[in-house]
Amino acid sequence: MRADIDVEVREVGLRDGLQSVSTFFPTAEKIAWIRAEAACGMPEIEVCSFVPPKLIPQFSDSAEVVAAALEIPDLCVAALTPNLKGALRGFEVGVHKLNYVTSVSESHNRSNVRRSVDESVEDFRRIVEARDQHEQAAATRLCAGLSTAWGCSIEGCVDPDATMRLAGHFVEAGADELAICDTVGYANPTEVKALLSRIVEAYGDSADIAAHFHDTRGLGLANVYAALEAGVTRFDATLAGLGGCPYAPNATGNIVMDDLVFLLEGAGLRTGVDLDRLVEVRDIIARNLPDERLYGMYALAGAPKGFRAASQAA
Ligand code: COA
Ligand code: ZN
Repeated sequence: MRADIDVEVREVGLRDGLQSVSTFFPTAEKIAWIRAEAACGMPEIEVCSFVPPKLIPQFSDSAEVVAAALEIPDLCVAALTPNLKGALRGFEVGVHKLNYVTSVSESHNRSNVRRSVDESVEDFRRIVEARDQHEQAAATRLCAGLSTAWGCSIEGCVDPDATMRLAGHFVEAGADELAICDTVGYANPTEVKALLSRIVEAYGDSADIAAHFHDTRGLGLANVYAALEAGVTRFDATLAGLGGCPYAPNATGNIVMDDLVFLLEGAGLRTGVDLDRLVEVRDIIARNLPDERLYGMYALAGAPKGFRAASQAA
């Protein structure tokens, strides 16, 4: 993590947001979004997903988007991959980090990536091996994302021990980071603090620990606070809360990046992100997706009188 920040926020709207949007977001506009958000001080952006373009045409321009993002100084360029094939595509174009996706829930994993959880772990081992043998990709960081870590729309509540076990398998396989994901908004702050405290205690010395919350039932930011109390200092979010939930048609998507930065900066934790500039970047999403619902309370209300962001006080 950069020395001048206390908590690392990572924009995932270009992946987690756009993957559920059927309107194609023009390549030049994706690049404009990335540049504008990086200029606000965003340390890391997940810029695309290396999935079959036939499955999600939104990501058919991944190589081009990554190439443009890599030109931005000091930005960690991340991308999602569901398998070895996607990881090899990522290594070829030189992403700094790959976010690999596996669900703790067996049924969710099968429906999302069409194989068992064990098979997903095996594939991750192959990705680590491929990374280590790849000339240009040796420094690429590999993050294992554990989706449905607290609950799943198919199986319901997920046993925290199952999440712990899967996290252990990924650490043992060589994950540089674990992202613990509440994919469909099942977790509450009590459960978040309990599970993430265990994860940090067991695996925090071996891997970076991140949390990824969805605001499906309105507990997203409360869960962030619980995760902070458990010692987690890395959080994913999407600008304007872009994205939805494929299993709940009216549900909101990820936690809102702008509100997350407001929470953290107000709590005295430096994110390195200029909040008021960040809010202006919402316009890029609004002009390209006029029919998409955007979220965020800070953008509506503005700063409270006398508000001083921790990053500005520094
Ligand atoms: N990128 C590009 N092409 C890929 C690919 C990748 N990452 N993975 C597989 N393919 C291609 C194969 O080469 C094959 O092509 P062909 O038909 O021309 O031979 C075809 O896709 C099918 O490959 P297969 O390995 O049988 O994949 P599958 O059909 O079992 O699908 C996944 C498995 C993982 C690729 C697919 O389920 C997936 O992309 N899931 C992710 C969904 C997602 O993004 N969810 C939200 C994020 S959490
Ligand atoms: Zn998500």
